[in-house]
Amino acid sequence: MTTPRRGTGAAPGKVILFGEHSVVHGQPAIAAALGIGLGATATAGEGPPQLSIPAWQQQIQLKASGAGFDALDRGFAAALEAVGLDPTRTAVKVTVDGELPPSVGLGSSAAFAVALVRALSSFAGERLSTDRVRAAAEQVERVFHGTPSGLDHTVATLGGCLHYLRTSEGPQFTPITLARPIPVVVSWSPRRGSTRQAVSHVGARAARWPDLYGPVLEAMGRIAREGQAALEAGDLARIGALFDINHGHLNALGVSNADNERLVAIAREAGALGAKLTGAGLGGAVIAVAPEDPTPLLEAFEAARCPAFATTVGRGD
Ligand code: PMV
Repeated sequence: MTTPRRGTGAAPGKVILFGEHSVVHGQPAIAAALGIGLGATATAGEGPPQLSIPAWQQQIQLKASGAGFDALDRGFAAALEAVGLDPTRTAVKVTVDGELPPSVGLGSSAAFAVALVRALSSFAGERLSTDRVRAAAEQVERVFHGTPSGLDHTVATLGGCLHYLRTSEGPQFTPITLARPIPVVVSWSPRRGSTRQAVSHVGARAARWPDLYGPVLEAMGRIAREGQAALEAGDLARIGALFDINHGHLNALGVSNADNERLVAIAREAGALGAKLTGAGLGGAVIAVAPEDPTPLLEAFEAARCPAFATTVGRGD
C-alpha cells in the first residue's frame, strides 16, 4: 500500500451574517466562512486509532464499539469509515488544533469533521473531491447533530460566502462573490439553550401570533437581500447598519439573551460599524463589523473579561 505516513487537513468555522431563524420560515440567509478554523494532522500511530484535541481537553483512543462509546468516538469512527479506513484497525494518530471555540454557533463540529476527513484521506493517500469531503463530513455531523441543516459542513467544505434557502427539496446553497473579505470581531458567551429550543421558541411565537411575527420575518428576509447586495459591493458601513437592524429583529423574536445584548453593546460602544448575534442565539457568538483598526474592540472585550478575536469572513479556499 502507498500510504504516506502523514496527512493534513484544515477547515474554517462559519458565521451566519443575515437571516438566522427567518431562514427556517422560508426567508433567505447569508452565511460565510470565518478566517479562523481548525487544522488536523494524521500520522502513523500504534494500536487503535487515537484522537487528541488539546484546545478542547479531549483525548480518545478508539476501542471496539459498544458501551462507553460517546459522540466523539462515534464521530471519529464515522470519519475513518467515510474515507475507507478501518476504525478498529488503522494505526493512526490524529491531532486537531485551532482557535475555534466549541458550542457557540461558529460551526466548530463541522470544521472538525471537514478537517478530520481531509487529514485522514490524505493520510490514506487519497485526494477526495469537494463533493466527497462534504458527504463524508455530513456522516460525522449526523453523529453530533442527528439531522444537521447542512449549512455548517457546506460552509466548512466550500469556504467563501453562501446564499442559503430552505426549500421543500432540501437546503439550497448558492455562492456569493464578495467585493472583499469583511473585517470582523467575534466574541461569545455560553449557550443557554440549544438550536432546537431556540427554533421551537420562534416557531411557537410565530404560530401563535402570525399577524405580529409574519411582518418581522419578512423584514428579516429583506435585510438578508440588502445584506447580500452590500456584501457584493463591499460597503462596510451599510453591512454594519444591516447587522444592527437584523439584531433588532432577532431580539424581537426573543432569541437574544442578556449576554448577547451585553456583547453587542460593548462592540457598538467601542466603535463597531454594527453588531449582531450570529447563529441560534440564547447566548453564543456575537459578530461585529470592525473599524479599520479592531484594537479598541478587542481591548473593550478584554476589559469586560469576554473572549474575542479579530478576523475576516468570506474568504474562499
Ligand atoms: O446552530 P446555529 O447556532 O449555527 O444556528 C442555526 C441557525 C438557525 O437558523 C437558527 C437554524 C437553522 O437550521 O437554520
